[in-house]
Amino acid sequence: MKKSLMVIVLGVLMLSGGWLLAADEKKAAEPYDEDTYGPEAPIVWDKPVKSVVFDHKVHTQGQGLECDSCHDELFSQEAGAAQEKKDFTMKTLYDGGYCGSCHDGETAFASNKRCTSCHIGVRGQARLTGGKDKAEEGHAKD
Ligand code: HEC
Ligand code: HEC
Ligand code: HEC
Repeated sequence: MKKSLMVIVLGVLMLSGGWLLAADEKKAAEPYDEDTYGPEAPIVWDKPVKSVVFDHKVHTQGQGLECDSCHDELFSQEAGAAQEKKDFTMKTLYDGGYCGSCHDGETAFASNKRCTSCHIGVRGQARLTGGKDKAEEGHAKD
């Protein structure tokens, strides 16, 4: 690569890096209060499939939803409770149950779209829990 081009590429990379840092700092500066917005740690289900994520922050602080738009009719305040129920499936979501009561293509993006927004997979879960997943450990070694 020509030297001048290299300098431009590096410059652009540094600038965009600066932007990202600034954005991160701004986010970190906004205090997250669990009493106001619900638990900060994302909720992760691994049944019937690994793994689906729910983030209070996005829904409460981000979208301004009240606790009672989900609790306790759609969901109980107990992480993992929903996955003990047999009907915690896409069919129920498509029929307007659980997440599907909003994720219907009107109130929020439809449950039959953007699968990977909710489905973070085994690797996504490992990332959230600090790489404790076995498959991930195996990869870390090679
Ligand atoms: C958009 C839906 C939604 C909203 C709004 C919401 N929650 Fe939740 N909440 C959930 C889901 C989903 C779970 C997990 C339930 C499960 O796994 O069965 C949960 C779980 C919880 C839990 C249990 C966490 C744990 O570790 O056991 C608490 C406490 C909670 N919510 C508090 C709140 C509070 C307080 C608010 C309002 C500030 C709120 N939630 C708003 C969907 C929501
Ligand atoms: C009370 C309504 C409501 C319920 C119930 C609800 N959501 Fe949402 N959700 C929203 C809204 C509103 C948005 C933002 C609009 C959009 O992205 O379409 C959103 C956005 C999201 C996003 C995108 C986050 C991002 O960073 O862009 C994900 C992922 C998500 N919800 C997952 C879930 C899951 C999983 C459930 C069920 C456990 C759920 N939601 C239940 C209203 C809801
Ligand atoms: C709004 C969030 C959301 C979106 C979008 C979403 N899912 Fe799901 N999905 C869930 C939840 C919640 C469960 C139940 C919890 C679990 O299995 O971990 C689930 C479970 C599943 C299951 C196992 C249960 C069943 O119904 O057979 C499959 C397969 C699945 N999803 C496929 C998909 C596909 C394919 C897409 C995209 C076309 C998709 N999902 C989009 C939230 C979502």
